Amino acid sequence: MKVALGVSGGVAAYKAAELVRKLQERRIDVQVVMTRSACEFVTPLTFAALSGNRVITEMFGNNLGQGTLENAIEHIDVAQNIQALVIAPATADLISRVTHGLADDFLTTLALATPAPIIICPAMNVCMWKNPATCSNVRILRKRGVVVLDPDEGYLACGMKGEGRLASNSIIADQVFKTLNLKTDLKQETILVTAGPTCEDIDPARFLSNRSSGKMGYAIAEAASRRSASVTLITGPTSLTSPSGVKVKKVWSADEMENVVLNQLNDASVVIMAAAVGDYRPTNASSRKIKKTGNSLQLNLEPTTDILKSLSKKISKFQKRAIQKKTLLIGFAAETDNLIKNARSKLNSKSLDMIVANDILRPDSGFKADTNSATLIFPSGRPQVLGVMTKQDLSNRILNEIVKLRSKNQL
Ligand code: CTP
Repeated sequence: MKVALGVSGGVAAYKAAELVRKLQERRIDVQVVMTRSACEFVTPLTFAALSGNRVITEMFGNNLGQGTLENAIEHIDVAQNIQALVIAPATADLISRVTHGLADDFLTTLALATPAPIIICPAMNVCMWKNPATCSNVRILRKRGVVVLDPDEGYLACGMKGEGRLASNSIIADQVFKTLNLKTDLKQETILVTAGPTCEDIDPARFLSNRSSGKMGYAIAEAASRRSASVTLITGPTSLTSPSGVKVKKVWSADEMENVVLNQLNDASVVIMAAAVGDYRPTNASSRKIKKTGNSLQLNLEPTTDILKSLSKKISKFQKRAIQKKTLLIGFAAETDNLIKNARSKLNSKSLDMIVANDILRPDSGFKADTNSATLIFPSGRPQVLGVMTKQDLSNRILNEIVKLRSKNQL
């Protein structure tokens, strides 16, 4: 998804730098276009470094081969390839030029040429904002379907007080997400997701682990972040790339995973345990490599802590005391037999709000598959049997249920 961010020449131009980051967190590719006067306030280099894209500042001869045809139609190329144009800050002059269809620089030409929705975020002196000329321009733009955000009230760069400050970056970003139809329904949630296998050392060379690829947990973390949740992913060893916009903490063993999860618990409003946590670890891992003797070798194993069980005990204790949002606990059940019965008994014994049951013998829902065919089970009501779908789609189904659970459990 690509958005053009137009920056015009006002003191608030520096604030647009942070907006680039906010948009990138939702995997939006940002093409910055600056007017000449914007370059007096912030250098294009700042935006180029942040966006990872060349910044467009000129209609002609802008770093491309001077005067080439490619150069001359760049505004059409950008205009056709963006899903939205957001102008922040938009000065009174820029608003006026866009209203009257002027095309005297790259940004105004782009505004005229693009079929994409336009969002204008004004920032100016209060008298300029209240001036009948600006008011009339804003009315005309809104009538045409352009979104013009109201500026904030407060102290202005000119020393006066009143309406004219650039709207906050989170309001601008939310408007962009809304325009792009990106969900923001998890904005109020801080979600801990665990993923992947854990590894339990036998000696410095060997360990016990399982077949989890981590794909499900990573997909959930990414989908939740795209829906504006603040996400921490606690992951055992996997070969996957960290999802963007997500805080990642890497762990090795069940013990380490438990510690990190417990450390983060106070901030979490939802915990989704998608990790395949090892149930046993060698009683005494050897600090030296165990040498082969030709005889059989016996390993003594002891149980690891059931992280979900200990979480639900902790949560019920502190939530009895505190008036705060209920921390939702979501588990997974990897089963080969009696899927619903076994998963329901885990749901009850671990006091979960929902469990996602998987038959790991099915080729379309095993650990390594890109798809999953899950059944969602709740403390009451009938299980929801879902068909085969990608782990991305299943992530969004799970997150939809979390939104529903939250609306039932406001506290
Ligand atoms: N889980 C956990 N801590 C463990 C083991 C599992 O928190 N030590 C969590 C998993 O992350 C998952 C849920 O408990 O969300 C169920 O895990 P699963 O491996 O299916 O079941 P177990 O409870 O380990 O029982 P069993 O292996 O006997 O099926």
